[in-house]
This record gives sequence, C-alpha cells and structure tokens, in this order.
Amino acid sequence: VDFKGSHILSVEQFELGDVESLFAVARRMEVYARRQRVTRVLEGAVLGNLFFEPSTRSRISFGAAFNRLGGAVRDTAGFDVSSIVKGESIYDTSRVISGYVDVLVIRHPREGAVREFAQATNLPVINAGDGPGEHPTQALLDLYTIQRELKKEDLRGLRGLRVAMLGDLKFGRTVHSLTKLLSLLDDVEFRLVSPEELRMPEKVTELARRRGHRVRQTPELADGLAGADVVYVTRVQEERFTDRGTYERFRGAYSINLATVRGLCKPDVVLMHPLPRDSRLGSHELVDDLNRLPNLAIFRQSDNGIPVRMALFALVLGVADRAEQAAREVTWFVPATIGRYDA
Ligand code: NCD
Repeated sequence: VDFKGSHILSVEQFELGDVESLFAVARRMEVYARRQRVTRVLEGAVLGNLFFEPSTRSRISFGAAFNRLGGAVRDTAGFDVSSIVKGESIYDTSRVISGYVDVLVIRHPREGAVREFAQATNLPVINAGDGPGEHPTQALLDLYTIQRELKKEDLRGLRGLRVAMLGDLKFGRTVHSLTKLLSLLDDVEFRLVSPEELRMPEKVTELARRRGHRVRQTPELADGLAGADVVYVTRVQEERFTDRGTYERFRGAYSINLATVRGLCKPDVVLMHPLPRDSRLGSHELVDDLNRLPNLAIFRQSDNGIPVRMALFALVLGVADRAEQAAREVTWFVPATIGRYDA
C-alpha cells in the first residue's frame, strides 16, 4: 500500500512488505517515544480522535503518539457527549469533523461503522476498533512486540511461530486482526483456546488455513499452552453479550497465574494481553501474581503502541522521512528507566 493519504481500516489491506516498512519507521520513532529526543514534524496538524465506546489506553495512546510528533489533538469520548444522540448521521459527523482536522481516528461499537466514516471523507481514517470487527493498530503493535520479545531481526525470522490465543475469541476484535496479520508470516501454528461458544469466527480461521497455517481449536488450556512461544490472553468482552447469564457463565473461564505459567508454559514464553485485564473477583484472566515475571510483556506491549502509531501517522500524512529534521534534545526530567526497553 501507499500509506500516504490512505485509510487504515483492516489488516487485510497489508502485505508483509508494508508491515516491514511500517516497523522500520516505528524503530526510528522509538527515540521520541522514549523521550530521548523531541520532534515537531506534525506541528500545525490536528488529529480528530473520536471514541464512541469506552477506552483509556487506545485513546490516550493515539493522542499521545500524535502529540509526540508535534501535532495537536481534539477528542470526544462516548455517545452521550456527541451529536449522534441528537440523530446526526455518520455521514454528517464525518463531513463536519473533516473540516476541522487533518486525520481521523475512530472507535465505534458497530462493525463496519468506521468504514462508513471513511467513505464520507477524503481525509485518512484510522480504525481504532469497530465493535467485534477489527482493531488493526493493536494487531500491528502486537506483532511489533512479538518480533521484539523474540529478538528477531525481521518478520521472516518468526517462521514456525507457535502462538496460543485464549479467552473470548468470538467477540475479541484484537485476536481477529492479529490472526489475520500473523497469517502473512510463514508456517504459523495457532492454538485457539476458548469455550465452544466463544470460538473464533470461521472467516478468520479460514483465512489462516487458506494461507497454509495450522489452526487447532480446543477448550483445553494445557493443550493450548504446551510449547507455545507466545500466549495471548484476552478479556471476556462483557459489553458484547446480549444476556448477562451467558456472560456470567464464561467469565473466569480461563485464569492464568504464576502456577499455570510455571506448570504449563515453556520457560521463555512471552505473555501478552491487549489490556485492559479484568481484575475483578471471578474474572482475572491474567493474575497479578505474574507482575514481576519478566515473561509478562503486557506493559512493553502497551508502550509499543506509541512508536507504532507514530509511524502510522507519519506515513499516512507523508512526513516519515522528515521527523529527524524537526528534532531536538529533551530538556525536561525523564526517568532513566523510560529509555530502556528491558526496564
Ligand atoms: C481491546 C479492545 O478495545 O478491543 N483493548 C485495546 O484497545 N487495547 C481489548 C479489550 O477491550 O478487551
């Protein structure tokens, strides 16, 4: 793809080479993301960050990534504060906001809604999650994290990867996008661990199989975790269940704690989660007793959202080669640990 001016709606629009060029830019953005230098390459640009569904990290992360490029951010959060409650259509909202900003990031509870925003504007639109549909930027930062955690020089080095995904694979959009994205690699083994009722949609598993990967679906935790290089845990998506009873039946279906990891995973397993973890009693898909285990990559993963989203903005707005020209030293206090990926 030519990133400049493009919408980013689904990972299906990428080929491996696109992901590699994006990651090369993300590596160059690390220095700004880690606050070692400042760049103002997007000074004067404005991001419209429209979130019609709850979010903390994605909204702040998109906004902070834009700010770190020197751009300004305007955002809204929730339906109740937007004109959509007054009956405004997606078409109108998209056209109006397009008059105010340079790029749009949109999260919406309905699958396909972000595409409708994109159809109504000439500005680039980035999908920050459309209901149970996709979450392409999360998948990109997940893959970036996998490559870094497994210390591979390039994506081809991930050939033969064994990845277990577990939890709510039906409604969890991050695992839909990640499975499709990983399908661009060679010879991946997917172990999809979920209750029967929360299995990954067939159109996603089909795509992986069509590209020659092994896909194994199982409700058994031990079966899924044994020998996996990466274990990607997800939250049961409470907000997508139409009845409370069904949700209650599945919440807490899988809980990974220190004992599970020691007993069932290989010693160098990489533990991931798109976050938020559900830390309420009876949920706890990824327990806090793992917090000091170096294998727990979840905060390095969320940190990686900044350089990856910076790279995407820089490419979509056509300034990726100019960031260094607009850079200078940081003068304010930055904790020493910030610059260190392993800290
Ligand atoms: C996820 C999402 O919103 O899909 N969060 C995120 O963006 N990192 C996962 C979730 O809500 O469970």
